[in-house]
Amino acid sequence: MLATLDPQTKAFRDDVLAGLSAPIPAIPARWLYDLRGSELFDEITRLPSYYPTRTETALLDGIMPEVAARIPKGAAVVEFGAGSATKTPLLLDAIGPSAYVPVDISGDYLEQSAADLQERLPWLRVLPVVADFARPFSLPPELAELPKLGFFPGSTIGNFVPRSATDLLRQFRSLLGPRSQLLIGMDRVKPVKRLLAAYDEPEGITAEFNLNLLTRINRELDGDIPVDAFRHEARWNDILSRIEMHLVATRDVEFSVSGKRFSFAAGSSIHTENSHKYGHRGGRVLLLAGGWTPISEWSDADEDFAEILAVAEPERFAP
Ligand code: AVJ
Repeated sequence: MLATLDPQTKAFRDDVLAGLSAPIPAIPARWLYDLRGSELFDEITRLPSYYPTRTETALLDGIMPEVAARIPKGAAVVEFGAGSATKTPLLLDAIGPSAYVPVDISGDYLEQSAADLQERLPWLRVLPVVADFARPFSLPPELAELPKLGFFPGSTIGNFVPRSATDLLRQFRSLLGPRSQLLIGMDRVKPVKRLLAAYDEPEGITAEFNLNLLTRINRELDGDIPVDAFRHEARWNDILSRIEMHLVATRDVEFSVSGKRFSFAAGSSIHTENSHKYGHRGGRVLLLAGGWTPISEWSDADEDFAEILAVAEPERFAP
């Protein structure tokens, strides 16, 4: 069995087996996004209580002239993630880049979204790169001499604990090079009631999205987890300023995954996602720690979501 696993599935299995055995059981959030998970997330973005996507899209639409005025002519845009059909064209239309490089781990999804975008914007040079943007990779050689703008919308940075988030930002910086720019979306801290409502709504789509991880484990890793023995829970962790998603056992349960046995007591949980929320200064400090100097920041009128433009300045050692 071991030899027949493709690298993706092997990485999934390693993360799941290690995660389920850990003292605080947790599985990295990236595994929530199989085909079904991506469809469910898409549904989440249209829920009335899930404000981030529509707020960021409207915000980007409004600020694009100001953003474009700060981007050098002929810059290449490198988007971390395959790009959303609604947000990405707003940016590309406004700044008219010389090239667009979407970077995503899912080759199939990337090819499809790159082809769709190419059809919509025939003038654009689209150069997709299949890579895990959290690991080191190279840009197409065509970009060597061009000014570069990184684009990291959607509050995806919020999925990373601050230590990993700064590692990621530093990696973006070394990939894009000195004097490059980064446009990044961050979700703001707001009243707990609204935050919880965005991650646990009456429609139950977020619950389905979370529980789908167990279905995926059963299917891809030869598991027999009784999915009905777990329920979705969203928690606000105030000291760490983040929403956490958990799968909580509703009874004592035993199951196996890839031939390994696991048992969970009623009430114990598997931590499946973090979504960090940042205040004005916290968001900027995170960028600075990652090697990016903020130059402009925009918010919607309710201050629900922020877009920050930052530059990778050459290292300065003094004072
Ligand atoms: C795609 C990571 C930005 O954290 O809000 C939505 C994922 N999880 N509902 C988020 C998510 C549950 C989302 N991000």
